[in-house]
This record gives sequence, C-alpha cells and structure tokens, in this order.
Amino acid sequence: MKVIRTVAELKQKITEEKALRHSIGLVPTMGALHAGHISLIDRARANNDIVVVSVFVNPTQFNNPDDLRTYPRTEDADCEKLISAGVDYAFIPSVEEIYPEPDNRVFDLGPVADVMEGPMRPGHFNGVAQIVSKLFSMVEPNRAYFGEKDFQQIAVIRRMVELEGFNLDIIDCPIKREDDGLAMSSRNVRLTPEQRSIAPNIARTLNASLDYSLSHSVAETKQYVIDKINAFPQMEVEYYEIVNAATMQPINDWNDAQLAVGCITVYCGDVRLIDNIKYIR
Ligand code: PAF
Repeated sequence: MKVIRTVAELKQKITEEKALRHSIGLVPTMGALHAGHISLIDRARANNDIVVVSVFVNPTQFNNPDDLRTYPRTEDADCEKLISAGVDYAFIPSVEEIYPEPDNRVFDLGPVADVMEGPMRPGHFNGVAQIVSKLFSMVEPNRAYFGEKDFQQIAVIRRMVELEGFNLDIIDCPIKREDDGLAMSSRNVRLTPEQRSIAPNIARTLNASLDYSLSHSVAETKQYVIDKINAFPQMEVEYYEIVNAATMQPINDWNDAQLAVGCITVYCGDVRLIDNIKYIR
C-alpha cells in the first residue's frame, strides 16, 4: 500500500491508474478505522481494480470544536488495517493540503439537509459536501462507498453529486454492528465501560419498535423509542424521526412512505451516537 500525503501525488497516481483503464473505488473515512470501514473496503475491493481510502478528519464538518478536538486519531493502527484489507492507496493529507485557502462554497442541499442532523448540526452537511466533492474531484472514482449508519449523509451526498454533476455510483453499505448490536462507530472508543454496556440498548430498542410499530401509529412508535431509551441511565435522545427513506422527510402515517426509516441520535454521557432502522412492512 502506498501512503500519499499530497494532492499533487494523488493526482499523478490517479492519472497513471486511469491510463491503465483501472476502475477506482473510493472509501472516504475520518480514520479511527473499525470493522464497519473494513466492510466498505471489502465491497470496494470486490468491484474495482484499485481501492483508494482517504483518512482525513475534516474540520469543516465539525460544528462543535470539542468534538473535533477529541475525535480519535489513530494513523498507525489505521495504516496496519488498511494494509491487511488490501488497499492500494491511503490518502492521508494535512488540513493545509486540503484547504490551502478557506472553502467558502455553500451547497444548495435542499430538503434532505433541512431535517434531523441539518438543524442539529448547523454547517455539518455543507462541510461534508465540501470535503466529499473535493475528494471526488481529486480521485475521480467510478464508485464511492458510504455506510448506512449515516443514513441522511448518503442522501446529502447524492444531492451534492447531482448538483456538481459527478459521474460515479454512490454505493450504500449496511450498518456493521458489534455482537451486542451497537452500531460500529469511531466514537464508541470514547464510551466508558459503563456507557459501553448501556449503549447497545439503542439498537435493542429500535429492534423492539419494529414489532410495536405493527399495531401503533408513527407518533406512538416514536414516543415508545424515546421513552424507552431515556429510561436508561446516562442516555438522552436528541431526536428520533421516522422519515421517508427516499426524501428524508418525516412521515405521519406508515402509508406515507414505501420505506420508512427511523433515525436516532442519542447522547450516552457526552458521546453522541447515531443509529437507524428500516421499518420494512
Ligand atoms: O462519514 C464520515 O466518516 C465522513 O463524514 C466523511 C464521509 C468521510 C467525510 O468526511
């Protein structure tokens, strides 16, 4: 695996790979890699000649300076995992390399970004659109891989792709979970042992809500999830929305969406965890 730190070298390698007519799969990450990331890499490996993984903690998508400061950074361990996963290029740039000057672009992300994470984390999705669009321009991938844990993020990225006219496939990949059901996340390492033992109740409650939803309304199902999770010590639901998977807009009736997805954010202590569940009926 080649580690690349500059945009110039990345572009050089991409030109060489394109000249060889190699297809390119890109897995954008912020590092602190876990089995969820590796599952994206495995998908990319299976469907492309070359796999590029970017490892970059993107400051423009953090609306909370403490979250940026405490975000885990584990480059050496990440590189070992990337080598084992058979990655061809790890792009690990500095902030100055990606943003030699401030990125003032404001994306018109539309309704998909106006709900849930949008109002809760002002500027977050614009920052995601900034970095992902830069990566797409630099790597020119045929396919880019994203985890469904960040369900709304995928919708936002698809919107950005439409706005910018990128010619690539966005591949969404299922959530990877720990054995006890907790959705894998780089933030999980920040949980205390006690919080770590309580956190799987997010996924357990979402699962239990599937049955509950069969005989209850959308509003009742939302309340059921919120009340159950808030009853656990150290856990506080920031929001639980049940949305139309196609539009990200909240629904009032189960018939309002072909596929309804429940998206949740929970503070477990000061660690912000997200998860979601599909209400397949
Ligand atoms: O999902 C993430 O890890 C980040 O938002 C992404 C897509 C790598 C952009 O920084």
